[in-house]
Amino acid sequence: LGGPEWEVLLGRRDSTTASLSEANSDIPSPASDLSTLISAFVKKGLSTNDLVALSGGHTIGQARCSTFRTRIYNETNINPLFANSLKSNCPSVGGDNNLSPFDFQTPVVFDNEYYNSLVNSNGLLHSDQQLFNNGSTDSQVSSYVTNSDNFFADFVSAIQNMGAISPLTGGQGEIRLNCRVIN
Ligand code: HEM
Ligand SMILES: *[C@@H]1O[C@H](CO)[C@@H](O)[C@H](O)[C@H]1NC(C)=O
Ligand SMILES: *[C@@H]1O[C@H](CO)[C@@H](O)[C@H](O)[C@H]1NC(C)=O
Repeated sequence: LGGPEWEVLLGRRDSTTASLSEANSDIPSPASDLSTLISAFVKKGLSTNDLVALSGGHTIGQARCSTFRTRIYNETNINPLFANSLKSNCPSVGGDNNLSPFDFQTPVVFDNEYYNSLVNSNGLLHSDQQLFNNGSTDSQVSSYVTNSDNFFADFVSAIQNMGAISPLTGGQGEIRLNCRVIN
């Protein structure tokens, strides 16, 4: 995919349970505004700088129509050419699971094109475009468009911070024998 490399801490313990209610309360939705995104990250000890850098993870991957439908049909801070190009694969009714890439320029390359999309009002999710919407994070987005080394360095630092959120220690959790299931 390209992109930067970083050191990953070993020996991480997995939880033996999952919580639907905590997932819904703590993971920001794609309908979130900037202030909600910032406070959700701060709640986990991540900064606004981390939020903007980590959102660059959307340089790869795809999202379902149901997560961006309202944006392409009803929002005004979107490039109309971009919005129209998505509508055939994401009708106003139906096709909920149809996929579109976050970074339509280079969907399988880890680069700074995601931020270039935001500057051109081509953000796929409402939450993506919030990072460049005449607000406090515009300057950071612009700096990543100009300098991808700057994005890579910040991404590495931020994803190391994310990997250090509330690690389980001692007897908490377990080391899975098969990473897909609890022991
Ligand atoms: C800032 C808050 C975030 C929001 C609101 C958000 C929202 C979303 C949504 C709605 C999807 C599509 C899910 C689906 O359609 O089923 C998605 C996919 C994805 N997200 Fe995020 N995300 C956020 C942060 C992140 C972060 C921090 C990373 C990684 C550093 C990340 C990496 C990805 C990737 C790689 C995919 C594509 C998965 C695939 O194609 O299978 N996102 N995100
Ligand atoms: C767009 O807004 C209109 C008027 O509020 C609403 O009826 C419609 O369901 C919305 N469409 C989508 C796709 O969100
Ligand atoms: C930012 O504000 C300007 C001037 O009001 C407006 O033309 C532009 O569409 C806004 N940009 C975004 C991304 O909302």
